[in-house]
Amino acid sequence: MKKVLVVTYSQSGQLDRIVKNVIRKTEDAPSVQIDHEVLMPEPEFPFPWPDMSFWDAMPESVRKIPSRLKPLQFNPDEKYDLIILGYPIWFLSPPVPLTTFLKSEEAKEVMTGTPIITVIGARNMWVSAQEDIKKMIVDNGGVLKGNIALHDRHQNLLSVVTIIYWLMTGKKDRYLGIFPKPGVSDKDIEQAERFGKPIHEALHSGNYTNLQNNLREMGAVELAPDITSIERKAKRIFYIWSGFILKKGGPGAKERIGRLKMFKWYLLFVIFAVSPIASLVFYLTYPLFYRRIRKNMTYFKGVALR
Ligand SMILES: Cc1cc2nc3c(=O)[nH]c(=O)nc-3n(C[C@H](O)[C@H](O)[C@H](O)COP(=O)(O)O)c2cc1C
Repeated sequence: MKKVLVVTYSQSGQLDRIVKNVIRKTEDAPSVQIDHEVLMPEPEFPFPWPDMSFWDAMPESVRKIPSRLKPLQFNPDEKYDLIILGYPIWFLSPPVPLTTFLKSEEAKEVMTGTPIITVIGARNMWVSAQEDIKKMIVDNGGVLKGNIALHDRHQNLLSVVTIIYWLMTGKKDRYLGIFPKPGVSDKDIEQAERFGKPIHEALHSGNYTNLQNNLREMGAVELAPDITSIERKAKRIFYIWSGFILKKGGPGAKERIGRLKMFKWYLLFVIFAVSPIASLVFYLTYPLFYRRIRKNMTYFKGVALR
């Protein structure tokens, strides 16, 4: 009997749908026991998001400041053969509920020496958050063996408009009837089932050596180099902004609203006015940095931590 712990956090249910498809094959197998831990923050983050609550989640996400969760249901003394960790991205960082879980004693206990696979459902910028997650997994003594990252395939600015519409209204439909549907496409969510096969095989053989290569060949991690370059720079700037905002207090503090508003307008300006130019400059100078970019892309598609 193989035992798998699945830990997820999802507001709209998108990430849960992806994970459900990834584990379908394993779930149906008689020789596998799956325990599913759904993380429940206390208090819950709102969905759809009121404008200011949304921006208020930035500093703690970026600085990986834990909050509170309802009591965890799994037994941390249990020895699992595999842990699957499913999460969305918040401000280029792990969402606060994930950080809270990963910094808990229970996570440390259950992860020590256990293979881990991460499953991400993002807009299109997940690389920096995954670096944070890799570090927290290592801190807990876990061993990252695989990563599947599904994202919105539409053009960057289109996906910004549609995700803001989705997150602020809770409606995952076509904004004004003309924009594409937000988030990861239904097709990509359904086809996530194909990743179950190599995972199932690795679980049974206990051999995860080629897992990430197999997942990559199946299209589990696709990256646009210009988007990755922009997000790596943006993450450093978010770090400075989060420190600036935190000086005015913690989550919900009235004193920090002014700085949150500044961040909001700054970010919207950068996304719509600066990022298209940054992408253009990136591709104009691409040949100069070709080797370095290729090396970085290979690294971010893998599971090692440098
Ligand atoms: C507060 C917040 C910030 C977000 N920031 C990012 C981001 O930086 N990069 C990204 O790719 N997606 C971002 N997203 C989109 C999420 O990754 C995810 O696709 C969406 O929230 C749906 O996830 P769910 O399964 O929790 O409903 C953000 C979402 C929220 C709520």
